[in-house]
Amino acid sequence: MDVSAAASSPFSLRPEAEQAPASGIVDVFNHGRNREGLIPLWVGEGDLPTPSFICDAATRSLAAGETFYTYQRGIPELRQALSRYHERIYGKPVDPERFFITSGGMPAMQIAMRMVSGPGDEVLIPTPAWPNFVGAITVAGARAVGVPMVFGQNGWNLDFDRLQKAVTSRTRAITVNSPANPTGWTATLSDLRMLLEFARRHNLWIIADEIYGRFVHDPALAIDGRAPSFRDVMAPEDRILFIQTFSKNWAMTGWRLGWLEAPPDLGQIIENLIQYQTSGTPVFVQRGGLAALEQGEEFVAHQIARARTGHAIVGRLTETGLVDLPSPSGAFYAFLKVKSAQSSKDIAIRLIEEANVGLAPGSAFGETGEGYLRLCYARKSSDLEEAVRRVNEALPRIAEG
Ligand SMILES: Cc1ncc(COP(=O)(O)O)c(C=O)c1O
Repeated sequence: MDVSAAASSPFSLRPEAEQAPASGIVDVFNHGRNREGLIPLWVGEGDLPTPSFICDAATRSLAAGETFYTYQRGIPELRQALSRYHERIYGKPVDPERFFITSGGMPAMQIAMRMVSGPGDEVLIPTPAWPNFVGAITVAGARAVGVPMVFGQNGWNLDFDRLQKAVTSRTRAITVNSPANPTGWTATLSDLRMLLEFARRHNLWIIADEIYGRFVHDPALAIDGRAPSFRDVMAPEDRILFIQTFSKNWAMTGWRLGWLEAPPDLGQIIENLIQYQTSGTPVFVQRGGLAALEQGEEFVAHQIARARTGHAIVGRLTETGLVDLPSPSGAFYAFLKVKSAQSSKDIAIRLIEEANVGLAPGSAFGETGEGYLRLCYARKSSDLEEAVRRVNEALPRIAEG
């Protein structure tokens, strides 16, 4: 299945630009924008502002005059702090030369895609998937090939037969987002081993998006409180690019700060690509990131605890009998399967009008997402309780048609 959007335009632009897909959430968002009392659970971010110790570090940097161009790869202090952070969380030393600071997870992904794919190439994406994977692949000129996951009693699972069948001589990479946006699917160590084996066999790069790796709700899956990672199973020579960000763990979505982790041998190439992308991430933003890594563990623990509470609250959405929601194992999204003949977009619009709750239509996450709604539960309990109450009240009416 080709999930690239077909587009035609009178502007005679490059197809990579013309075919960049529009966000499937925006229509619904526009419908509910500025509604009084609406509980917004459609966007992938929490409701907490960035903690002040992070803001203060950035302010101090600006006041000290750190307003000049900087290292393309990121300031050495931040790359070293990332190395210590990874050792602390994943239990193994990591060379600071593996880290490249970017202006968010999204630019890290764009650089990764540009390195491994271009016109004539294909990249596999298990779907439903965060739409920006398709966007980044399309903008790189390559073709995004969606490979549906299977939905069953225990939630979503990879379908290795389908993955195998989707490989062609043009396949260059596979994206693996675990824990996943939007499904909450979290790879087991055995999934990761099989994916690695699959990638090695077909000589593919793995684009590993593990940005929600600290948010795992299934104790049977967790390793020292975090999700299984490719770094638990990989060998140094494996071709893996890790996408990462400060956005979620430290409530820094608006800062635009992330990192790409890659084999150090790619250092000069990545440095060049950063030069032609942003020419480096502002130093004061990086100082905020440094404070987040060095003093932010308590805040991350607070965020994780909040997400667990939210996860338990949204479980009550199954009470109407109209929603299937196998407990998502990770991230902070619930992907609700609604028993209704209506499209996910129509249901989302009616939920705005009749429940004053904003959810994202599953169709925004590829064809496999049709029939589902995504809800972000990184939010205070009182909002979530009220949202669940309103949805449970309105859904029986809406689902009927
Ligand atoms: C799966 C996934 N990867 C990457 C990102 C990128 O995050 P950012 O560009 O805000 O750092 C997001 C944001 O929602 C995401 O959901």
